[in-house]
Amino acid sequence: MRTFYIETFGCQMNVHDSEKVGGVLAARGYQEVDTPDKADLIVYNTCSVRDKAERKVYSRLQQFKRDGGQGRMFAVLGCVAQQEGERIFDRAPYVGLVCGSASYNHLPELLTQLENGGHRLTGLSTDTEETFETPYTRRSSPHRAYITIMEGCSKDCAYCVVPFTRGPERSRTARSVLEEAACLADNGCTEIQLLGQNVNSYNDPSEAVSGFAGLLDAVARTPGLRRVRFTTSHPRDFGKDIVDAIDANPVLANHVHLPVQSGSTRVLDRMRRQYTREEYLERIGWIKAAHRRIAISTDMIVGFPGETEADFAETLSLVDLVQYDSMFSFKYSPRPGTAALALDGQVPDAESGARLTTLQEKQRAIQVRRNAGLVGSIEEVMVEGYNQATGQWIGRTLDNRVLNFILGAGAGSPRPGGYARVRVTRAGANSLAGESVDLL
Ligand code: SAH
Ligand code: SF4
Ligand code: F3S
Repeated sequence: MRTFYIETFGCQMNVHDSEKVGGVLAARGYQEVDTPDKADLIVYNTCSVRDKAERKVYSRLQQFKRDGGQGRMFAVLGCVAQQEGERIFDRAPYVGLVCGSASYNHLPELLTQLENGGHRLTGLSTDTEETFETPYTRRSSPHRAYITIMEGCSKDCAYCVVPFTRGPERSRTARSVLEEAACLADNGCTEIQLLGQNVNSYNDPSEAVSGFAGLLDAVARTPGLRRVRFTTSHPRDFGKDIVDAIDANPVLANHVHLPVQSGSTRVLDRMRRQYTREEYLERIGWIKAAHRRIAISTDMIVGFPGETEADFAETLSLVDLVQYDSMFSFKYSPRPGTAALALDGQVPDAESGARLTTLQEKQRAIQVRRNAGLVGSIEEVMVEGYNQATGQWIGRTLDNRVLNFILGAGAGSPRPGGYARVRVTRAGANSLAGESVDLL
C-alpha cells in the first residue's frame, strides 16, 4: 500500500482542499502518514498571499535537495503552484506534479501519470466554471465541518494574488451545498462553516435560493445543525439581509468577519476595495443595530504604498469606532503580477513595522476590555477537546471566542463535540476562562 504525507499552508479554503485531496488519495489506496520520511508521496498545499507564506514551501523542498527526494513522489498544490507553475520544477527537479486549485478535478488522471513515473506534470489552467467536489472528502473532525460554497475571486484588490491563483469566482449549486450539509448533520456533525473568498457574492447557478442570505437561511434550517458559520464577507457586497438572517435564526453564528484593510478612503481607493470608510461604517452600523449581539472581526494591511501617517491615523480611529472583537493585521507584502507593484510611495519596512505594532497594541487593549465585559456571563460552548497541560477543557462560543473551562460542581463530564454552558470567570486578550454550569 502506498503512503502519503500532506502539509497545508494558508487559509481555511486550503485546509478544506487538503481534506478533499486527502480523501481522493485514500480512495486510490493511499494511507496517510504523519512525517514526510515515511511517505511515498509528499504533498504541499501552498499559500502565496504574502511573501513569508510563499517562502515556506521552498524551504520545505530545500530539505530534499541533497538526496533528490530518494525516489519519492512530490506534488505541489495550491496558490504557489498556480503562481509559480513550471518554475517550481526548475528550483526542485524532483517535484513531479504542480497543480493549482482550479484544476483539482484533474487530480485523478494527473496522479495516475505521476504514479507511472511521469514528471513535469501540471494542472495550471484557471479557465474553468467548475468547482472541486468529491465524495471522498476526509474531514478531520466528525463534529465540525467546512463546506465550500464558492471558489475563486473576481474582485481585483490591487495587492492580492488570490484572483490569479484561484481563478474566477464560481458558485456551487444550493442543492449540492444543502445535500452536503444534510449528510453531515445525519452523521452527527452539528457545526458547519461555509467557505468562500467572498461569500457575499454567492450566486446559486440553479437559482433555487436567492443570494447568500438565501443560502444561509436554507442551510441554517438543516435539521440537526446547531451552528452555522461563514467566511469571508467582502464589505462591498455585504447586504443588510445577512444581518436580518442572523437575527432571524439563532443557528447562524453571531459573528461577522468583515475585512476592512484600511480606515482611509484614499488608501481604500488605491487598494481598489470598492467602498469608502463611510460605506464600511454604515455596514458596521447595521451589524451593531441587530437584536442579537454580533461579534465583528477584520483584516488590516498597514504600509500599503502611499499610506501616510494621516492615513494610518484614520485606520486607528476606525478601530476606535468599531471596537473589533478580533483582528488579523499584516504588513503589506508586494506580490507578483499585482497592480500595486506599479504604485509609488513604498513605505519603509521599519515604518510599516512600527505602524503594525501600534495597531496591534491598540487592538489588544480593545480585546482585553471587551473580553473583561463578559466576566460573570454564561456562554454556550462547543467542546473542542481537553488540554492536558492546563487541565482545562477547550470550548468555543457561538461568536467565535475561545472559552477554556474547568468542571463546575455537578456539571457532568464533557465530551468533544458536545455542548456546555460555562460561566466566564476570567478574561484575557485572546481567550476567556470559566467553569462549566451544565452540559447541553
Ligand atoms: N477574500 C478575503 C481575503 C483573502 S486573503 C477578503 O477579501 O477578505 C486574507 C487577508 O490577507 C486579506 O484580507 C488581507 O488582509 C491579507 N492580504 C492579502 N494580500 C496581501 C498582501 N499582498 N500583503 C499583505 N496582506 C495581504
Ligand atoms: Fe483578494 Fe480582494 Fe479577492 Fe479578497 S476580495 S481574495 S483581498 S482580491
Ligand atoms: Fe493563501 Fe491562496 Fe488562501 S494565497 S490565503 S491559500 S487563497
